[in-house]
Amino acid sequence: MSDNRWKTAFEPYRAKTIEPLGESTEIEREELLRQCDYNLFRIPAEKVIIDLLTDSGTSALSAEQRAGLERGDESYAGSRSWLHLESTVRDITDMREIIPVHQGRAAEHLLFSELGDEGKRIVSNGLFDSTRANILAAGAEPWEIPILEGLIFERNDPFKGNIDTLSLEAELKQNGDNVPLVVMTITNNSLGGHPVSIRNLRDASEICRHYKTPFFLDACRYAENAFLIQQREPGAGGRPVEDIAREAFQLADGCWISAKKDGLSSTGGVLALRDQDLAQRLREHLIVVEGYPTHGGLAGRDLECIALGLRESLDESYLKHRIGQIEAFAKGLRDIGVPIIEPPGGHAVFIDASAMFPDLSIDLHPAATLACEIFRTGGIRGVAISAPVPRRRPGQADVSRMELVRFAIPRRAYTQNHLDFIIEVLEDILRRASAVPGLRRLDSNEHVNHFGARLEPAG
Ligand code: F0G
Repeated sequence: MSDNRWKTAFEPYRAKTIEPLGESTEIEREELLRQCDYNLFRIPAEKVIIDLLTDSGTSALSAEQRAGLERGDESYAGSRSWLHLESTVRDITDMREIIPVHQGRAAEHLLFSELGDEGKRIVSNGLFDSTRANILAAGAEPWEIPILEGLIFERNDPFKGNIDTLSLEAELKQNGDNVPLVVMTITNNSLGGHPVSIRNLRDASEICRHYKTPFFLDACRYAENAFLIQQREPGAGGRPVEDIAREAFQLADGCWISAKKDGLSSTGGVLALRDQDLAQRLREHLIVVEGYPTHGGLAGRDLECIALGLRESLDESYLKHRIGQIEAFAKGLRDIGVPIIEPPGGHAVFIDASAMFPDLSIDLHPAATLACEIFRTGGIRGVAISAPVPRRRPGQADVSRMELVRFAIPRRAYTQNHLDFIIEVLEDILRRASAVPGLRRLDSNEHVNHFGARLEPAG
């Protein structure tokens, strides 16, 4: 990978432990879809051949991490593995107060039950489902103000994950007392996995400092975001990814990281803060719902695995391969005419299901239809995303919906051949797209999220 003379981008690792793929025939999958009410969350994973439902908790572990699992210190308090994780997170984030949690949303629950409240508004470039749900559960209001370009799928801007700084400033000026924190999600998963530029992070941080509003990062893909800054942002070219990531954290007052993404681990997460009083209050809550503050409900082996994973994900040859793999996958899909969100981001490729099935109305669920058709045809599982386009300006109504299928790529798990097979399956579906019947919702409550959806073919 270090030699630029060759154009073949091969994996900067070799397999030592392997796991057979799931197996199923098309006839079996057709029957399974019927049995599972066309809800891919209910399909037994062993029937899925290539599983791109999520990049969360699905990474392959390194030999070092496997050794770390053996070394994990299971002492209840002050374990060696905890101290290893604490010092690693301090080093990466430059924050002192480190709190372990069992996964990202536990950090969100702690934070928003402390800071969110009736009448409060959490301002963000884009919130993941669990973040939004935790804000709502605390009685506060999610307020997403991505840049306009971020909402136009075919635009090729490098940092479509950015926050609209003019709207941010206006919001804090008018309503600052009601905004307990601003959250920047890096990368911006809900809107296509796009990165946020270091410039935008600096600007947003400065605005927050001016209005004395705490500035937080939802940083579960911090390494991918930093690498995309290095690749795409003028002036960042020669800068080590670790430096870029550290600057992003230095701009913030706090952050949380789901270790299931760039932590390269099966579970876990951390909250990191500068405010000692806030950290103390969160730890008191942590003891009640998660565990003692030096394990947060995690086993010592998990703490050890996360400490190692958080560093491994900053390895530049790993990142170069990972982002290159996603770009090659996106190019393959683009070249055969599959409409994708451009440009591909750090962890996934998103297909615009409405554009792929232009004859299907929204009530025939283009995203779920495409996700099921991909599974039926090739045994590949992506995730259907059907969500309102976030409000752009205060007062503007949520009118249109995004109908997307996301292929999230597990880290270090699949090779280009697996992804090439998916492109072949999509080519087959594209040829007969107009003949694919849509899906009708069976459950009466349209607001039930995709985990509970029950559907059937409309045709
Ligand atoms: N924030 C972002 C941006 C996420 O993508 C996720 C999870 C979370 C927070 C919550 O972390 O799962 O550890 O509780 N995203 C996964 C996904 C589930 O498939 O995108 P968690």
